[in-house]
Formats: sequence, structure tokens, C-alpha cells
Amino acid sequence: MSDKRAQHKSKYTLDRGIPGAFEGETITRRRLMTGTANAAGAVAVAAFALPALGFALGPIFETQPHSWQDIGPVDAFNPNNYVPVVVTITPGVSEIGKTTAYVRQKNPAIDTDRPDRDTPYIAISTRCAHVGCPVRWVDAAERFVCPCHGGVYDLLGRRVSGPPVRPLDRFPTRVRAGRVQLYTARFSVNSQLRRFSPRDPGEPLDGIGQYLYPSRPSARKP
Ligand code: FES
Repeated sequence: MSDKRAQHKSKYTLDRGIPGAFEGETITRRRLMTGTANAAGAVAVAAFALPALGFALGPIFETQPHSWQDIGPVDAFNPNNYVPVVVTITPGVSEIGKTTAYVRQKNPAIDTDRPDRDTPYIAISTRCAHVGCPVRWVDAAERFVCPCHGGVYDLLGRRVSGPPVRPLDRFPTRVRAGRVQLYTARFSVNSQLRRFSPRDPGEPLDGIGQYLYPSRPSARKP
């Protein structure tokens, strides 16, 4: 009985009576192959998962400086039409860090919704809410038009047709010493023009979309 127990506890596969065992072998070939396959699988999974994880979490650690920027005197804007202004979203990177916004004076007759209640001027982002192409204001049609996939928005920046999933984003504004200033941190709105923290293009804000696509720091880029 004691011999049997000694054999069972032996580290050698031969002593343990494993079929096909070799002299001096301490691990079965089946276990060795299983361990090798598992290790190779873990390496393969890590090769895909780690870059994806870095891509997903990296923006959390990015910071984006924002500032109030002068965009002109108060009488440079009227309540019925948009004026394009260029603002610097990312300083120090030349033209790449600039973006265009369309600005008009607030019109009490049409700007009855909440998102700009504290802001005297309406500043619309030109970044299309589909995949981010720059939209253009077409005065004659009173529409914002996206050249990439035909997205069309109305005077308030709400989607009229095409693939965009929500209205155009906006910028806060204020007046100081007779000058209009624009704050370079966008905010997003849903189809009822309810205000939300900024979202990336392609992220809807109606219904469950507002929960499925939480705001990420990357969304604060131009
Ligand atoms: S990016 Fe504007 S419609 Fe596609």
C-alpha cells in the first residue's frame, strides 16, 4: 500500500504508470500541449485586446484646453442669418487646430428651446453629426448642407434629411464689453434641442442613445 502511494506521488510519469511515458519525464505530453496551446491563445487574445483597450481608455487621460475667444462686435451678427467665424480649438498646431462655427444673434421667435437659454448668440458647430465632415450654411435654402453624404439641417441645426443621427452641436457664447465671445467646448443636443455634454459624430442622443453613448473626452476635439 505504501509502495503504491509512493508511486502515485512520484513526479515521474513513468512511475505513475502513465501509458507512453518516457524515462525521466515529469509532465505528460497531453498536459504540455494543452499548456502551450493555452499560452499561445492568451498571447493572441492579448495582441487584439490590449491595443483595443488602449484605444478605448486612452482618451480618458487626454485633456483639451478650452477658452473664450473673441469673434467680433455685437453688431456683426443678426438674428436671421448666420455669419461664419473661425476659432482655434487646439492652440499651437496651426490651421489644423482651427474650426469654423456659424453664429447669429438669438431670435426669440425661433430660439424658444432650452439649450442656449444662457447664451445671447447661437453658435453652430460645422462638424456633421454623421461622421464629422464640415457642413456649410446655404443662405438661400436656409439649410446647413453636408457635402459628404447629403446630410441636411434646418436653421436651428436640426436634421432634416440624410444620415446624421442628431442635430449639429453648438458652442456657448457670451458678450463682454460689446464683443461676442465663443467658448471652444462644444455641447450636443438631441432632436428636441435638449442640451447634453458633447458626443462624437454618429452617436444619437434620442431615447436610449443618450445612455448607450456616454460623453468621452475625445468628443471635445474640434
Ligand atoms: S458626414 Fe455629413 S452626411 Fe455623412
